Amino acid sequence: MLNDYSTAKKLLATRRSGKASQLEAPGPSETDLLWILEIAMRVPDHGKLAPWRFFIVGKKERSALNALFEAALKAEKPNADKKNYEKMNKLAHSAPCLVVVLAKVDKKSSVPIFEQHLSAGAACMNLLLAAHSLGFVGNWLTGWAAFSPTVIKSFGGEEGDLIAGFIFLGTEEKDIEERKRPDVKDIVHKWKSKNKE
Ligand SMILES: Cc1cc2nc3c(=O)[nH]c(=O)nc-3n(C[C@H](O)[C@H](O)[C@H](O)COP(=O)(O)O)c2cc1C
Repeated sequence: MLNDYSTAKKLLATRRSGKASQLEAPGPSETDLLWILEIAMRVPDHGKLAPWRFFIVGKKERSALNALFEAALKAEKPNADKKNYEKMNKLAHSAPCLVVVLAKVDKKSSVPIFEQHLSAGAACMNLLLAAHSLGFVGNWLTGWAAFSPTVIKSFGGEEGDLIAGFIFLGTEEKDIEERKRPDVKDIVHKWKSKNKE
């Protein structure tokens, strides 16, 4: 039986990112957020390894997050200037809701690490779509902090683990303009074998 997926189609066709620094309250309630994270986990996962962890960084923890970024900059980027510190401070305090997605890999598994990272990326994408379905706007960012060993370690990351994203959620007052998308004709190709027998 064919289901009516018109609402889902509209949802998929309208998701857009906002700017983390412009996201305002309301963010998702605790109940909303738990549902969003349930959906985030509903991703293909080779080997059923669940190679992702979600860290909710509440508003009260944002100063501590900024302190962590500062400590990481100090330790790993001695030439960092005022602008670098300001950028990290802005990131730490952006949006009413922040989820840090850690790609937590199983190095002993036969499933390649790359596939485990892909699953973590898929979790980030599902998270954004779930938030969009509830009317929230998201922004998936990485930047310097996501690759900092100090920051990764503080989220429980070990060797091979990476921060897949800082996912900011909130509300945008104005409608977000659509951005230019690649033309499907430039991206999609019909593969033809060069092996003419
Ligand atoms: C893994 C990943 C990391 C990203 N990191 C950043 C970032 O650090 N800064 C940034 O401006 N955009 C970043 N982006 C892009 C935005 O999340 C977003 O996709 C972009 O603004 C395009 O908007 P759209 O999602 O509406 O197409 C990242 C995207 C991905 C997939």
